[in-house]
Amino acid sequence: MNWSTRLTELLQIKYPIIQGGLAYLGYAELAAAVSNAGGLGQITAMSLPSADHLRMQIHRARELTDRPFGVNFAFSAHQARFEEWVQVVIEEQVSAVTITGGNPSALLHWLRPTGITPLVLVSSRRQAQKAEQLGAAAVMVVGSEGGGHIGRDEVGTMVLVPSIADAVEIPVIAAGGIGDGRGWMAAHALGAEGIVMGTRFIATRECVHASASYQEALVNSTESDTAVIKRSIGLPGRVLRSEFVERLLETERREPTYEALQSYISGAVNRRWIYDGVKEEGFGWAGQVTGLIRDIPTVSELIGRIVSEAEAIRGKWG
Ligand SMILES: Cc1cc2nc3c(=O)[nH]c(=O)nc-3n(C[C@H](O)[C@H](O)[C@H](O)COP(=O)(O)O)c2cc1C
Repeated sequence: MNWSTRLTELLQIKYPIIQGGLAYLGYAELAAAVSNAGGLGQITAMSLPSADHLRMQIHRARELTDRPFGVNFAFSAHQARFEEWVQVVIEEQVSAVTITGGNPSALLHWLRPTGITPLVLVSSRRQAQKAEQLGAAAVMVVGSEGGGHIGRDEVGTMVLVPSIADAVEIPVIAAGGIGDGRGWMAAHALGAEGIVMGTRFIATRECVHASASYQEALVNSTESDTAVIKRSIGLPGRVLRSEFVERLLETERREPTYEALQSYISGAVNRRWIYDGVKEEGFGWAGQVTGLIRDIPTVSELIGRIVSEAEAIRGKWG
């Protein structure tokens, strides 16, 4: 079957399936596995301590795949030393850069003459139109079902994707709540030309940094087992529920300030569960799609299965 869309043409990939940026989990092994399976894998720059580490990760991914892959930047995390990092992706000529968390204009400006495809993550119609004006090649539209940071308006994928598909000319890529062939085909029906998956890729064998406890929780949780934290400080993000998260939410209700929440929401606290497996002392980002995750396959098995499911749907509906 032919899976080409404007996104596959842009990125030179077989399937329009992108592995989203994954803080502390999106390293070369996972990125290369996704690219080898026909999608676009990504190294997450914010997980790395320096621009040199980013270069090493890019080299490592190149050892593992000869297919295109991308680098994800969370703008707010890198603002101070941004140019150095951008220089690395330009020198290394990665295929794509995805941008989230802040005003993408400077980065889009730097990338314009380089031939690197810039994709911007948005969570509202206004942001999507702005990204298009600034020169994004496509927008990744994240609905409120998604894992990790979501839009302040908390609009779901089902409404946000068609709304933005009507508002921009560039390709729209749907994110948030997608974990199988049904979600992928639904996204296309909504006007998307590809998908981003985050949570689903964490429960794979090549997500080697994820603790067994976190991966097992993704398999065992239902769609009701997530919660949104940091809403009160204007940075909503979806996590797996736990006793730790209940304490965090209770603190947030009592004292909704960054200072009060700091000791619950830092990267170190995040890693306490996702790396060390200590669920009682940390949190893990996850989307509602956790309710559809039932195993920990290899990335190639996962993408093969998703493609088969999508083929069956196309066979049924034409
Ligand atoms: C553990 C985790 C970490 C994430 N870290 C980032 C990040 O660093 N940068 C980013 O752009 N998006 C990040 N996201 C969002 C994903 O890239 C993606 O947009 C989202 O997971 C899509 O929703 P889904 O989880 O329902 O697939 C993260 C998501 C998760 C679950």
